[in-house]
Amino acid sequence: MCGIVGIIGKQQAELVILQGLERLEYRGYDSAGLYVANRTSSHLIKAQGRIKNLAEKVTPEVTGTIGIGHTRWATHGKPSEANAHPHTSASGRLVLVHNGVIENFDELHQTYLADHQFKGQTDTEIVVHLIEELMNQEDLTTEAAFQKVLGMIQGSYAFALVDQQNPDVLYVAKNKSPLLIGLGDGFNVVCSDAMAMIDQTHEFVEIADGEMVIVTPDKITIYDRQGTPVFRPSYEAQLDLTDIEKGTYPYYMLKEVDEQPAVMRRLVQEYRNEDGSIAIEASLLKQIANSDRIYIVACGTSNNAGWAAKKLFESLTQLPVEIHLSSEFGYNMPLLSEKPFFIYLSQSGETADSRQVLVKTNEMGYPALTITNVAGSTLSREADHTLLLYAGPEIAVASTKAYTAQIGVMAILATALGRQKGISAASDFDVFYELGLVATGMESLISEKERFSELTAEYLTTTRNAFYIGRGNDYYVSMEAALKLKEISYIQAEGFAAGELKHGTIALIEEGTPVIGIITEEVMGSHTRGNLKEVESRGAHTLVMVSENLAKVGDQILLPHVHPFLTSLIAVLPTQLLAYFATLQRGYDVDKPRNLAKSVTVE
Ligand code: G6P
Repeated sequence: MCGIVGIIGKQQAELVILQGLERLEYRGYDSAGLYVANRTSSHLIKAQGRIKNLAEKVTPEVTGTIGIGHTRWATHGKPSEANAHPHTSASGRLVLVHNGVIENFDELHQTYLADHQFKGQTDTEIVVHLIEELMNQEDLTTEAAFQKVLGMIQGSYAFALVDQQNPDVLYVAKNKSPLLIGLGDGFNVVCSDAMAMIDQTHEFVEIADGEMVIVTPDKITIYDRQGTPVFRPSYEAQLDLTDIEKGTYPYYMLKEVDEQPAVMRRLVQEYRNEDGSIAIEASLLKQIANSDRIYIVACGTSNNAGWAAKKLFESLTQLPVEIHLSSEFGYNMPLLSEKPFFIYLSQSGETADSRQVLVKTNEMGYPALTITNVAGSTLSREADHTLLLYAGPEIAVASTKAYTAQIGVMAILATALGRQKGISAASDFDVFYELGLVATGMESLISEKERFSELTAEYLTTTRNAFYIGRGNDYYVSMEAALKLKEISYIQAEGFAAGELKHGTIALIEEGTPVIGIITEEVMGSHTRGNLKEVESRGAHTLVMVSENLAKVGDQILLPHVHPFLTSLIAVLPTQLLAYFATLQRGYDVDKPRNLAKSVTVE
């Protein structure tokens, strides 16, 4: 969601900006723009839709040594060229890109800028007008006016600002929205995500909330809210170009589905000590063991991963686990237990809905762990503890390997905790061996891709809606399976508790409606089979996905047998492939579904 790139001190800044914007495409956007300048010329270009539309407008004379670029995911004002960033001040002297939401933009408009004309409807345009207004009214330098406006703004922002009269400086600031500085040799860059600039540098510096940074070609100076300079060491981004390129794959999603066995093995490698014990810090285990209830707070697929891990976590630790949606929990907090422990599941570590809850639980003094794919992300920095997913960058908007990695890490954590608490289920559970079996099972499913393509053509390509049903863990996987299908193929899909269907939703079953039953548990599975028969008698086109040890003649998808705690890891994989092929066969872009963003940095 909204991406920012910027560079200062390099010839052909426009090429770096365009490539950086392409690398941020995965975040989701509906328009894009860039500004480049040098001492003699400047160019501001915007386009609705994809980066390639913008690139087509970048003619050879569009070049410079300073530049900023932006991908916009519309919040205030519809997707259009007028609303696309960069935005300019009243005289056109200042040029600004912004990620986030200025909550008091209306108030700032009425109080300071009532007589100003705006080109679009965004909250950002008000900010750039206001900076110039203060420069004019109070005779402030660009830096001083920028700093002053930062103090007047309520909300979230990552800003990159250029003053056309001084193309040797890039002004940068952040609050709640992600932004990094990258250090080059004779040039410096800014970006929402290290991935965008990894071709330019591997050395990055974090910016804390409320800070402003003055970036020149060979220096960066960070200031805190009070204007005091801050020193912060740089770090090396552990990213490889091959991690973020598609290679021979047609889509990132397929690459990421295929990477899942390797991710399971990497988790084993990262979390297993040489003596076979689990490498998780004792202080974290102690803190969780002292709690009386786990609250998992997350959004989207990460929330579904929380559900998929609930039963195994409770069985291995004997601690009750509640799963909550971040967007609900923060403003509608349930009555908490006496000693809660919070787990934030977040692939990106940047999701604003989750972060607002973490800020609250931190204020309340409750301990928290973030399980994330991105080291150094906001949620990771702000929680007491972090466990990493080691899944490698996930670029397709539809999350796949992060979901399975989250369940894998939860299984490892629960085993370590359960063993510490002396719970026999945990001592008897060889989590590393079992994850190895999961990896092998995943590989055998992946090797049958063609079969999933055929099943998709038979069941999903032309349908308007579809259902996944299951009970217990299979119900939780159904929720994720349906989310995957609907978010990329636009088939209206629901994941349903199999037994609940007859209490209303069965009314939606028509001749040919696809209903996919997931069965990995014997007793509950026999009931799910009964529910499949009920919908079949009403015309549904049913498909059974079943653990191989429970299969019956005619079942279409057989799931390799794995430990009962880990069946979700196997059952989800065919559903990812069905969603992938349904999207291909319906002719949509698998990696960039409409209206969606990968990293959702606004509430
Ligand atoms: C967005 C993405 C989803 C993701 C959700 C939570 O909606 O499109 O794929 O599950 O955000 O993201 P997080 O990074 O917190 O896991």
